Amino acid sequence: MPELSDVYFVSSNHHKFQEVHSILDRLHITVRYNKATLPEIQSASLYDIARHKAAHAYTLLSSPVIVEDAGLFIDELNGFPGPYSSFVFDTIGNEGILNLVKSDRSATFSSVVAYSDGHTQKCFSGNIHGMISKEIMGTGWGYDPIFVPDGSDSTLAQLDKDSLSHRHLSLESFAAWFTSHQRTI
Ligand code: IMP
Repeated sequence: MPELSDVYFVSSNHHKFQEVHSILDRLHITVRYNKATLPEIQSASLYDIARHKAAHAYTLLSSPVIVEDAGLFIDELNGFPGPYSSFVFDTIGNEGILNLVKSDRSATFSSVVAYSDGHTQKCFSGNIHGMISKEIMGTGWGYDPIFVPDGSDSTLAQLDKDSLSHRHLSLESFAAWFTSHQRTI
């Protein structure tokens, strides 16, 4: 029977792993890191992208795996950049996003965690609502310096994001399921 620690997080993004490790550690799950760039399908759905990545990651490791796909969905831009967040960050970056948003600054940060162990595949999501800031605030990675969660005046880059992030919520659901799943196999 696998131990609670027998799950790998597969990603090329070390920032993400540090967050995943810290969040799951608080939830009493030890996760190992496998640094790999997984192929990403073109899809408007974070679920489809994450599911596909998880299936691929399992074929690489033959051990239970989790992967995560995240995106920033800006209301005024009809959900852009959403599933294209990585490409958009690498091209126009936070300055580019600040130039695009004119009046309605509402946005949602979403995370989908996909688990696969060769038999079972499951997805867990987490969303936080907030606003795009008017300027870059703080020095976190990705869109953290321009996303102000509801109820705060600070960006994710200036907050203890691991206790309130979209990733925290998706991993909390995963951890609840994984802990009970492990007890029943
Ligand atoms: P990915 O496709 O899940 O790796 O994420 C898409 C892009 O969104 C990343 O390249 C980051 O720029 C950004 N991103 C994802 N999650 C976060 C986060 O928690 N904070 C800041 N930016 C993030």
